[in-house]
Amino acid sequence: MQIKVLGSGAGGGFPQWNCNCGNCRAVRAGTPGFKPRTQSSLAVSANGADWLLLNASPDLRQQISAAPELAPNADDGLRASPIKAVALTNGDVDHVAGLLNMREAQPFSLYAAGRVLDALGANPIFTILQTPLVPRIELHMDEAVAIRGAGLELGLAIRAFPVPGKIALYLENANAPNFGTSAGDTLGLEIIEAATGDSFFYIPGCAKVDAPLADRLRGAKLAFFDGTLFQENEMIEQGLLGKTGSRMGHINVSGADGSIAAFAPLGVKRKIYVHINNSNPLLNAFSNEYAIAHAAGWEIGEDGMEVRL
Ligand code: MLT
Ligand code: MN
Ligand code: ZN
Repeated sequence: MQIKVLGSGAGGGFPQWNCNCGNCRAVRAGTPGFKPRTQSSLAVSANGADWLLLNASPDLRQQISAAPELAPNADDGLRASPIKAVALTNGDVDHVAGLLNMREAQPFSLYAAGRVLDALGANPIFTILQTPLVPRIELHMDEAVAIRGAGLELGLAIRAFPVPGKIALYLENANAPNFGTSAGDTLGLEIIEAATGDSFFYIPGCAKVDAPLADRLRGAKLAFFDGTLFQENEMIEQGLLGKTGSRMGHINVSGADGSIAAFAPLGVKRKIYVHINNSNPLLNAFSNEYAIAHAAGWEIGEDGMEVRL
């Protein structure tokens, strides 16, 4: 299996268009240790020719331009794309807005939880992806489903499962507080190569490593995991947004309930942070926090990173 990190940043990317925080200033200035990051997405292929996108970020057009394997082949027909399917982990803007870049009457399959498909279905702009060409397929929890798209089998399966998380920000209702989660608002995905049975986990949004998630991850070969914030109050302390990590539905990297501690006993062989927010000190490769995560066996995801499994 070939895996490519298209975007390792969280919503807003890095730098974020309207942000003048220390990290965003530093990356704009080209300071050593800081690299720009586009928004949250991975691409996966079993045969190197046909690709599955995991989330479709608002930066998808730029991400495709930076990834030759995602461009039409010169000997393909007049309209063509190696991208045959997209699977979504939630309905957040950073994970669905790229679908709008995938109009132009190109066939591919769209996989998501029922609640996310409902959110897309309630928004007429997504009818630009016409349903005969772009079938919307519900991911049922804990069922491995073979991924097909544009008439092809991709040689990949997805087993989706609910993780603690949050309803999409734009669906939060201040008058009838619905903060929290219903199963299917936030998914983790296990991507399985059909030929070998090898698999990896992609969990870019997750509020807590609870016991079922820990059991699932134990001994995994590879996990891409929510690296949004290093610590609970970092956005408040930097004066960016009056919200904690937990209020945003994201686990922190550090602390007793953080992901470094939660993964420590699980024996996951390769652990890579993705969905990293622009406030996170992990974005400075020379920071103490980077050294702490690295010493705990974590890699800090970067755009363009390639992993073979
Ligand atoms: C998140 O991951 O918390 C969301 O992307 C927030 C947002 O929609 O901006
Ligand atoms: Mn996000
Ligand atoms: Zn910033």
